[in-house]
Amino acid sequence: MCGIVGYLGKKNTKEILLNGLKELEYRGYDSAGIAVLENGNFSNFKAVGKLVNLEEKTKNYSTDGFSAGIGHTRWATHGKPTELNAHPHVGQSSYVVHNGIIENYAKLKKELINDGIKFLSQTDTEVIVHQFEKNLNSASNTFEAFSKTISELDGAYAILLVTKSQPDTIFFAKHGSPMLVGTNNESEQYFASSDTPLIGHCNEVNYFEDGDYGYVSSNNITIFDKDKNKKEPIFSKLSQNKLSAQKDGFRFFMEKEIYEQSDVISDTLMGRLDDDEIIFNELDKKIFDDINEIKLCACGTSYHSAMSASYLFERYSKIRTSLEIASEFRYRNPIMSKDTLFVVISQSGETADTLETLKMAKQAGLKTLVICNVDNSSMVRLADYCILTRAGIEKGVASTKAFATQVTIFWMLSLYIAKLKNSLSVDEISKQISLLREIPTHVKVTDDMHERIKRLSKRYLHGHGFFFIGRDIFYPLALEGALKLKEISYLHAEGYPSGEMKHGPIALADPELFTIALLPQNLLYEKSKNNVEELSARDSTICAISSKEFDKADDFIQISECKDYMLEFFEMMIVVQLLSLEISARLGNDVDMPRNLAKSVTVE
Ligand code: AGP
Repeated sequence: MCGIVGYLGKKNTKEILLNGLKELEYRGYDSAGIAVLENGNFSNFKAVGKLVNLEEKTKNYSTDGFSAGIGHTRWATHGKPTELNAHPHVGQSSYVVHNGIIENYAKLKKELINDGIKFLSQTDTEVIVHQFEKNLNSASNTFEAFSKTISELDGAYAILLVTKSQPDTIFFAKHGSPMLVGTNNESEQYFASSDTPLIGHCNEVNYFEDGDYGYVSSNNITIFDKDKNKKEPIFSKLSQNKLSAQKDGFRFFMEKEIYEQSDVISDTLMGRLDDDEIIFNELDKKIFDDINEIKLCACGTSYHSAMSASYLFERYSKIRTSLEIASEFRYRNPIMSKDTLFVVISQSGETADTLETLKMAKQAGLKTLVICNVDNSSMVRLADYCILTRAGIEKGVASTKAFATQVTIFWMLSLYIAKLKNSLSVDEISKQISLLREIPTHVKVTDDMHERIKRLSKRYLHGHGFFFIGRDIFYPLALEGALKLKEISYLHAEGYPSGEMKHGPIALADPELFTIALLPQNLLYEKSKNNVEELSARDSTICAISSKEFDKADDFIQISECKDYMLEFFEMMIVVQLLSLEISARLGNDVDMPRNLAKSVTVE
């Protein structure tokens, strides 16, 4: 989830690019850079960390004539946040910026290296500029070289490229990652990943569609569609409210982040699924040699994804798995053995309790792995191995897409280990991989579903508490649903194993006790249904979440028929996320920044 900007015109290009990048910092900023072509010469600046570092580097630079410029803020997916890995990436006479993932970059890079190309970075993006310049040698014109290059890329991208071979032009291509172009009546062209940077500069914009590619010069935009047919830009009015633009029109960042889970999980999966095996280029298969146990350690929502993982590791990888709440693990003088792989899970990579447990494991000589969303964070720098979730910046304090991508990674990792340990057949692994590919479809939020939950939420604004109940892997999902509700509605909620309700909590059952029951059809349905009937018989108010109507429930939120319980898990995840959001919104709470909470708990 990076941010890209471009500008073609006579104004101070540096200022326009930097101001545009500032508006995109919410999309990611572990490094940033610009490249400007003026009078046939390039000026290029890059800096690690916040944008102010790039501003410092460019403070004595400005343009005063016509120029073509591109800029980028990076959220690392391939390669550490370093200056070398920061965009724009350079060839001999061209620069490129890119948002997305080039799935076939390894193959292209190998061919280019065989041709004698020297790569400076570890990124997938750099292959674009070298492939373009390779095609320049044989193409009859610059655009032909560019369009050939685009046709050779697999994956998701929003690309801007500037080259000395056509200096008054910016080349663009869009597939799977957002980008738009804006114009005004001063013969200027502006590009950005989202519309915020264009507010105040452009009065109309064209949102590119997947497969669009082309070029702009100072007086026109030339677009070709995915079938290589020329198409006219479709201009629309530009919103003038920057904050709502950053939220892409949603009411809250949390709402936006729930809706973008489908795209984000596609990024998480990208380049990691083969037909019958999982690919984690960031791992060395040898990590798992001599490992007889996996210990998962985290806090909050990350602990819930860890608990979800424990079911998958024991079921598919057939490896003993234990779970730890980091703040407890720190002080209980735990026994640690070197045949244990210590895995910490953290969206921020900075949570104090979790970080301390990672240090303890390192001290005890255990192999360590971190599942994290923020490259270069403390945990990423400390752990032996790291798998990035690629969720992009998560602004809402109540975590949603970080949880979704963590569970996705764990599902993949359980199959990765299953392959190494032969604990699943190749056919079974292939079947699971086909299911993984379906997650993005199952987490797309439908208007009907959202409308239903919005209407229903008015019934759940009081009462003396909520139980979220589920069995097996739906128990951590119940815990997660309860945490979401607590965090942003300030109503009391507990996640509980369905089978445990009869061992005490059922004493609370009455019409004012709201039970959100997770009833997957593909896993222990009859058992779960019995537990819910026990509650219903005692007049508890039940909201059943299932693909099949449940006559004993007072309310019912229907999910689609799924082939597998894991797809039901992701569908129910969307329901509990939206339910907590709509209840909180009705109560008038600050959904994105709820009271008493911080996005990253860096204190004990
Ligand atoms: C989740 O909604 C909460 N904001 C909180 O529980 C969070 O998951 C926890 O603080 C752990 O944060 P981390 O994933 O960044 O380590």
